[in-house]
Amino acid sequence: MKRIVFAVFLALVLVVLGTSLVFAGGVRQSKDVVAGAQLYDKWYAVLGQQPEGDMPIWGRQSTNSRSGAETWRCAECHGWDYRGVDGAYASGSHKTGFPSLMILAPSLSEEQIVAHLKGENDVQHDFSAYLDEASMQKVALFLKEGLIDDSKYIDSASLKVIDGDVGHGKSLFDATCSECHGADGAKIVFRGEGVEEYLGDVAHRDPYRFLHRTRFGVAGTTMPVGVTLGWTPADGRDVLAYAQSLPEAQETAEVTGAGQGAEPAPQDVGGPSDNWLAGIFTGILAALGTLGAAILFLFFIIMIGVAVVFVLRRSK
Ligand code: HEC
Ligand code: HEC
Repeated sequence: MKRIVFAVFLALVLVVLGTSLVFAGGVRQSKDVVAGAQLYDKWYAVLGQQPEGDMPIWGRQSTNSRSGAETWRCAECHGWDYRGVDGAYASGSHKTGFPSLMILAPSLSEEQIVAHLKGENDVQHDFSAYLDEASMQKVALFLKEGLIDDSKYIDSASLKVIDGDVGHGKSLFDATCSECHGADGAKIVFRGEGVEEYLGDVAHRDPYRFLHRTRFGVAGTTMPVGVTLGWTPADGRDVLAYAQSLPEAQETAEVTGAGQGAEPAPQDVGGPSDNWLAGIFTGILAALGTLGAAILFLFFIIMIGVAVVFVLRRSK
């Protein structure tokens, strides 16, 4: 009997150790996906750099007239929906004709993506002067693990959310977002490309950017990160659906076209590092919830095993 108790104890310790290791790995991994997503958004803001001139590939197109640092953003060429020429940037002022990572990334390994970022297949797609190895790996991890197909949530013609739960979105928004953005989304005014916008404008004009940033945060701000809060893609969709009902600053102004919203002025304050401790804590808290459930479940299974062994031994 003593042996059995010992064996069960040992098994429990191993299970707890194993699960915590897996979860620690999971928390680190999801932290890196978030970091990768923020690099995809605006790597030079995250890393505190200033790329020179236009990205070399920029010269291959003439439909997007932006210039300078912006031409170096992954999102400017590959889109906030990650679909490049196949998605929201198929037309309008952001059109470049550059390819969809939603199509390309699944067939590439993380190593192949990193190699592409070093210009190994195309010397013009070379970011190695700016992105260190670790940053490239984070972007690659994001492209492998973090891409979510939001096109099923958004009507491509009207840019309205399809089947969103506005009530659920409102309760999430009031609990998490209104503190900074105001109950009407107008407390923070985004200024960029000469336009003033409220959250309602962003939700209407660039729902994919809204979803990406709600999910992964905005580099250089203390804005909460949906992924770290444990939000599902559907939670993000619902908040977007609610945000689309908020007032717009641009209601009367001329709208240039679907998904062509102006970008807020960059907040180049060197990445989310000031907030890393809080991030880790939230991550650990979120993980602990699941960890607890997993341990409880395993504990029950083990207890059933013990009971069976006990009964079998007694019946001998
Ligand atoms: C100026 C536009 C531009 C920017 C900025 C850009 N890309 Fe690309 N990307 C392209 C083009 C064009 C291709 C097609 C292959 C090629 O010519 O390099 C491509 C291809 C890719 C591929 C597929 C490679 C393959 O083997 O099929 C990946 C992955 C990728 N880009 C990731 C990124 C990431 C991550 C960033 C940001 C760090 C980024 N790109 C920034 C234009 C751009
Ligand atoms: C701690 C304050 C804070 C909270 C809480 C907060 N945000 Fe933000 N949010 C910001 C700041 C600061 C910016 C960047 C402003 C800028 O760039 O001018 C921002 C930017 C954004 C943007 C990007 C707008 C654009 O033009 O691309 C979106 C989308 C957004 N917030 C949505 C949300 C949502 C949804 C929530 C709730 C989950 C939320 N925010 C909670 C502070 C906050």
